[in-house]
Amino acid sequence: MKKGLIISFEGPDGAGKTTVLEHLLPLLREKTDRNIITTREPGGVEIAEKIRDVILDVNHTSMDDKTELLLYMAARRQHYVERVLPALSEGKVVLIDRFIDSSVAYQGAGRGLDTEVISWLNDFATDSRKPDLTLYFDVDSETGLARIAKNAEREINRLDLEKLDMHQRVRQGYLELAEQETDRIVTIDASQNLDAVVASAAVEILKSLEAEA
Ligand code: TYD
Repeated sequence: MKKGLIISFEGPDGAGKTTVLEHLLPLLREKTDRNIITTREPGGVEIAEKIRDVILDVNHTSMDDKTELLLYMAARRQHYVERVLPALSEGKVVLIDRFIDSSVAYQGAGRGLDTEVISWLNDFATDSRKPDLTLYFDVDSETGLARIAKNAEREINRLDLEKLDMHQRVRQGYLELAEQETDRIVTIDASQNLDAVVASAAVEILKSLEAEA
């Protein structure tokens, strides 16, 4: 049996990674016989979806930053144990819409919480398992926010209501991470059109699947 793999999708709000993931899946299934599943954070399993509702509720304006961080971590742990680990043990490729780097970018760079504490908590939540590949979809904050504003179907969550400077810090956090962890993180220019972004993502994923073969 082939080794299970984690491939995470990261990026600031409005980068389009969720749409890219939807378009990518049928394409990948055509090109590889690996068993691929998709999931998301926060959420993906019942308990974590409930935690997600608490975190993203637009009425929860009084939520403390550390409370927010710990809730993301609680959701991460439950999702990891219940959904990711069983899939990995069956040799599946797990595509996750957001994972450990979101906490570093949003709660670290965005909210200003200590990134060493966040890394420690990430390790605690995932037993130190890092993604085998991370696709970072990069887009500037103005473009990202304009896309969110244009997409009427997208449900607006508490994080979407943050101001431009928070979004800019988040992007900066991602750019720094991508610079530090070049062996795992590949940056994709998400300002291109959807087809081009999907194609670039497919190339990177197929490359990493071939490297495992
Ligand atoms: P979601 O609707 O999934 O946004 P998107 O479609 O942009 O992925 O909402 C997830 C929000 O939670 C998003 O604004 C990023 C934020 N988030 C964090 O702040 N920290 C985290 O650890 C994770 C996983 C998500």
